[in-house]
Amino acid sequence: MSQLAHRIYIYTFVFLVVLATVYLFYRGIPYYSTSEVERFYHPDHDLFKPSGAFGHGLGIIGTLMVLFGVFSYMGRKRYRFLVRLGRLKYWLEFHIFLCSLGPILIMYHTAFKFGGIVSISFWSMVAVVASGVIGRFIYIQIPRTIEGRELSLQEVKEMKTNIGTFIQNSYSLDQESYQAILAATTASPQREGGNLFSRIVHKYFEDGRNIRAVKRILRANKLSGVDVRKVTKLIRDEMALNNRIDRLQTMQQLFKYWHVAHLPFAIIMLIIMVIHVIVTITFGYRWIF
Ligand code: HEM
Ligand code: HEM
Repeated sequence: MSQLAHRIYIYTFVFLVVLATVYLFYRGIPYYSTSEVERFYHPDHDLFKPSGAFGHGLGIIGTLMVLFGVFSYMGRKRYRFLVRLGRLKYWLEFHIFLCSLGPILIMYHTAFKFGGIVSISFWSMVAVVASGVIGRFIYIQIPRTIEGRELSLQEVKEMKTNIGTFIQNSYSLDQESYQAILAATTASPQREGGNLFSRIVHKYFEDGRNIRAVKRILRANKLSGVDVRKVTKLIRDEMALNNRIDRLQTMQQLFKYWHVAHLPFAIIMLIIMVIHVIVTITFGYRWIF
């Protein structure tokens, strides 16, 4: 898929999600905003109630979307014969699309009445969607191959340039200055303890101090302003890469824990949804069939 095609692919998904949300809100708000007692007498009740032609249909279509979004992605990830059907990355985007739009339709299906055991399914769905957003954030922090395989620490390290050799060959610095620059540039691991956020903030300020120290050394070695900026940029890029390498293990670890949290909610949601469907069919609800 070309870059333009990919952009159109993503924008189409975003457009459809926004369109459906706005349309359902606009069309249904006069009904959904009434109290439970008033609803019964509302002219749209037969249409929008969870067992109404529209409301029931939203539940069925939304559920089919979620089921297809989950099982198509799981299948593409696990079965080799599906490899020909596009990159994993596109399938994950399709998963996110269907599993965002589906829950929106299901939310309108409930008509904002969360009663009975099926409300556990609803709130599990909310938890899966919320954790999905967090998971997506962690997912993109981990460098991957074009096919979606996580890069190993070694592979990311191979992306590093040899900054020491470059500085030594390009500028005549005294040995003491050269060693001081190398020390400031080489990865100093993030502070132990504290939470991830405070460690990131701490490292940010530490890198800032190191950059200022490097600038002072370069100026003391009589480098021109242009060269100071050039070397500082190189060092900044090197520090950014070191930080990514440093955080890679944390992010990979976090992603493992995330899977442990995301999956059980999806399973609870799906099991209770199946019970809910069996109960409604037993009670004789057939939608338009
Ligand atoms: C994860 C998916 C689903 C969730 C979270 C969900 C949730 C709900 C909720 C909260 C209600 C309202 C309960 C109440 O009135 O207190 C409801 C009603 C209903 N749902 Fe679903 N639903 C889902 C999928 C489905 C599907 C796939 C079908 C049909 C095959 C369906 C059929 C119905 C029917 C017929 C009612 C009305 C029941 C009645 O008025 O007694 N639902 N659903
Ligand atoms: C009702 C909604 C959803 C359900 C039931 C669901 C279910 C699942 C399941 C079962 C997996 C595991 C797939 C596997 O390991 O093979 C998964 C993975 C994932 N989902 Fe969802 N999901 C939902 C919504 C979302 C949303 C809204 C997002 C993002 C905004 C999202 C992002 C992800 C990500 C990033 C992965 C990890 C992919 C990987 O490790 O390969 N999910 N989801």
